[in-house]
Amino acid sequence: IHVLSVASEMFPFVKTGGLGDVVASFPGALLNYGVEVRTLLPGYPSVIAAVSQVNRAAIRLPDILGYDALVWACVIEENTLLVLDIPELYDRSGNPYLGPDGGDWADNGVRFAALARAAAFIGQGLIKNYHPDIIQTHDWQAGLTAAYLHYDGEKSCIENGMPHCPRVVQTIHNLAFQGSFPAEDLEQFGLPPEALSVDGCEFYGRISFLKAGLFFCDWITTVSPTYALEIQSAEWGMGFDGLLRSRVDRLSGILNGIDTSVWNPARDPVVRFPYMVGDVIARLSNKLNFQSEFGLPQDRNSFLVGIVSRLTRQKGIDLLPEIMESLLRSDTQVIVVGEGENAIHRALSSLQRKYPRRFACHLGYSEELGHRMQASVDALLVPSRFEPCGLTQLCALRYGAVPIVSRVGGLADTIVDANEAAVSHGVATGFLFSPDDPVSLVSATERARNLFRNDRESWLRLQRNGAFTDVSWRGKAVQYVRLFAKLSGVEIVDQE
Ligand code: ADP
Ligand code: GLC
Repeated sequence: IHVLSVASEMFPFVKTGGLGDVVASFPGALLNYGVEVRTLLPGYPSVIAAVSQVNRAAIRLPDILGYDALVWACVIEENTLLVLDIPELYDRSGNPYLGPDGGDWADNGVRFAALARAAAFIGQGLIKNYHPDIIQTHDWQAGLTAAYLHYDGEKSCIENGMPHCPRVVQTIHNLAFQGSFPAEDLEQFGLPPEALSVDGCEFYGRISFLKAGLFFCDWITTVSPTYALEIQSAEWGMGFDGLLRSRVDRLSGILNGIDTSVWNPARDPVVRFPYMVGDVIARLSNKLNFQSEFGLPQDRNSFLVGIVSRLTRQKGIDLLPEIMESLLRSDTQVIVVGEGENAIHRALSSLQRKYPRRFACHLGYSEELGHRMQASVDALLVPSRFEPCGLTQLCALRYGAVPIVSRVGGLADTIVDANEAAVSHGVATGFLFSPDDPVSLVSATERARNLFRNDRESWLRLQRNGAFTDVSWRGKAVQYVRLFAKLSGVEIVDQE
């Protein structure tokens, strides 16, 4: 089975969140099952720089929305890449979506329509000897692919010697980002007038790339079973719930995994004191080191809570200032590594001034600090209002930091609450609380701290349970393989 994965981010070249991690680690996992994934990415400067270091082939595509387009084909660290090189659209440094003023690039519509247009061309067999069976489109940035294939029709693929067009799987990583553009831009995107209808790309009078993907794709996946249910409700469907309910027989939730060779505390180059997975006692030196790295008193008995996150409303970080007094009342320390909304930055900076011995933050993006945090903190707090999957709690499990998370989406699916029954059966891995509820957040953190202080044995058990939970891609990749096989009519022989 050949899969063309189309995305706007891929670690380590470009990443603003978990999407970049998933797009990077997923192909390797599928290869173990004989599924070959090639990833189509925009040629941002960081991507072009990486491509120019390796052997590569240049492939010319037809004109894309009025731009000359070249695709670079190469393999970088076992990932097969197709890089769409249109300098007018992608040769801009910094964040892939935002200009220097912090606002969206004015031409984001064309930038990502072009990505989808290129994906559709490749899907139609325009690269010699490459006929993908499946195109997996990630989030809104790739959403128009299915629309182009639909409006061009099957003949566009048959002309190039394919039996039919590839099946499209639209994957939702976050429904909050919808790729919404003015209806007047339709022509610029190379779409026919009829695309501006409910049975097309129209969404509340505008064009939504995500809507197009959800409407025209052959299957919808999202990144956890619980989020797959949540998004069918008016509360979390962000306007798409009706459409999603109407396609529920073609919607599934498959959890993300993490790359356990990257997330390995024994071989993590930025962890000061490496330790074997599950050797949670050995984490203490990392904790003491991390406390001093952030200028907090080194104290083994202090309950050290970490947060590594985009600082946005989705992540519930705005609740922190309100609850910090209660959290810090006892001997708890909190360290935040994050970047996001200005108002949250200001609130966190003032907390740091107010509680210099208990609260510290790094307001910026730091992959290194993210890794060191997971190896150091006693607990990782993830207070999200909604969370399609969440990766940080998976990294925390693996590194022996105990997740304290809100009971939503992928967080609810991946953490077993340490209630009395679960603790006594030895299956708990963390603490769950109701989202958006400061009181229950504080009480979950208190529960965690009490266990940490008063029942060290159960605490260690919790950490070890987490460390030995399978957070890898293994089991999840199988679910994708089954789906891709079903959609492309390939029979798979079950070996289990
Ligand atoms: P989302 O994609 O919604 O941001 P995820 O939990 O899926 O949430 O993925 C976030 C990824 O980005 C994780 O790998 C996390 O460690 C990382 N991350 C987020 N913010 C930062 C930051 N400020 N510094 C370093 N890593 C970060
Ligand atoms: C999104 C979601 C996050 C998920 C990630 C990767 O950014 O917010 O929950 O883990 O995508 O799928």
